[in-house]
Amino acid sequence: MDEVDEEWQGLDENVAHIPFFAERYSEAEMIKRSQMFYELLNKRRSVRFLSDEMVPREVIDNVIRTAGTSPSGAHTEPWTFVVVQDQYLKHKIREIVEEEEEINYKKRMGDRWVNDLKRLRTNWIKEYLDTAPYLILIFKQVYGRLPNGKKKTHYYNEISVSIACGILLAALMFDISQLDFLRGFSVLSSTC
Ligand SMILES: Cc1cc2nc3c(=O)[nH]c(=O)nc-3n(C[C@H](O)[C@H](O)[C@H](O)COP(=O)(O)O)c2cc1C
Repeated sequence: MDEVDEEWQGLDENVAHIPFFAERYSEAEMIKRSQMFYELLNKRRSVRFLSDEMVPREVIDNVIRTAGTSPSGAHTEPWTFVVVQDQYLKHKIREIVEEEEEINYKKRMGDRWVNDLKRLRTNWIKEYLDTAPYLILIFKQVYGRLPNGKKKTHYYNEISVSIACGILLAALMFDISQLDFLRGFSVLSSTC
């Protein structure tokens, strides 16, 4: 039986204080910034043909650090980001994803879902998983481990990871120039 819910977890209460600083913007500046940010994010597209052109690894690391600033239930930070660059591993991942996606399309999703996807012309073939210079795999940790080995509850783990994914996408849009974006460096959210 899972002891998680019954027991006091005994998390450390002496957490470091992080000072809070914030800038103030004038109303005009706020309007300008909000318009600019909207226009930037409105350029994001789920592109299914990607360029193999490299971007510096440091950019990817910074994007992930940005995603890691996300809020999370009880500050549990229930995510793991894994960057895959190795060609062989990327291909193995493609094989696993395609196998699962084929079952999704043919069995799990059902007629209505498959029909709703028709206009997007998607299917289970995902060549871009070989082509993209980096794959960022994002895992949700449904629970953690306390130093004593017991399970640590990760409250709202699903929504916390989803918010982190949103911040990651926004960071990619901000960090990768429009030129890189047009060259094909792009992002595709895929749940499989
Ligand atoms: C949770 C989630 C799962 C998605 N899964 C897939 C997927 O498995 N395959 C795919 O091709 N696109 C997937 N998409 C991309 C959507 O189809 C896409 O966001 C939508 O069509 C709108 O297009 P846009 O992203 O270009 O604005 C997913 C998006 C989200 C948010």
